[in-house]
Amino acid sequence: MKAAPVVAIDGPTASGKGAVSEGVAAALGWHYLDSGALYRLVGLAALRAGVGHDDPQGLAGLAQGLDVRFDGGGVRLAGEDVSAAIRATEVGAMASRIAGHAPLRAALLDRQRALRRPPGLVADGRDMGTVVFPDAILKIFLTAAVEVRAERRYKQLIEKGFSATLTDLLHDLRERDRRDTERAAAPLVAAKDAVLVDSTERSLSEVIDLVVGLARDRL
Ligand code: DC
Repeated sequence: MKAAPVVAIDGPTASGKGAVSEGVAAALGWHYLDSGALYRLVGLAALRAGVGHDDPQGLAGLAQGLDVRFDGGGVRLAGEDVSAAIRATEVGAMASRIAGHAPLRAALLDRQRALRRPPGLVADGRDMGTVVFPDAILKIFLTAAVEVRAERRYKQLIEKGFSATLTDLLHDLRERDRRDTERAAAPLVAAKDAVLVDSTERSLSEVIDLVVGLARDRL
């Protein structure tokens, strides 16, 4: 049997991957994987359990035993709704710090692939097109200027009731870009066959329409 088709959407933090991927999944009627949420969940679990960011085996163990449920746009960890908690800045920073460990990435691989189901999957992250779903029918590498990404993240955080400053966010994004691109295990790079999309001057709906059009052409 042929595996369900995948659209892979990779790019840096706050490039709009999440909103674009959700929109594309809704338009196509496909499933959606927010792989960053898995790294954030491990980050949250590690902070709570006191497992250090420098303990690859401990982190891989946490990832293997993670009791996760995605339901209706929310995410539950051992039954508790942690949809808001995993978006906190310190959880994102922990996720970025631990994401460089190969054993942790390996522990999350099958979990991500298991979500590939008919009629199709839109997967967003850093290594969807390069490592997790190399046979995706369409690979998008989504970028935007770092200043625009910081502003978007600022608005998101304030709307959710978190406090933030633009200067701190800009610093944090640059730091995260550096860590995500310089790490040895599955660094953030565009797949050779990815389509590069810059959303700096495009609205969300323009980007969604563009990606949906490209995906339909390949089905
Ligand atoms: O997309 P995000 O900001 O929610 O991701 C949180 C962190 O998880 C990010 O800094 C890097 C890591 N990540 C990863 O290494 N690989 C993925 N496929 C998704 C996220």
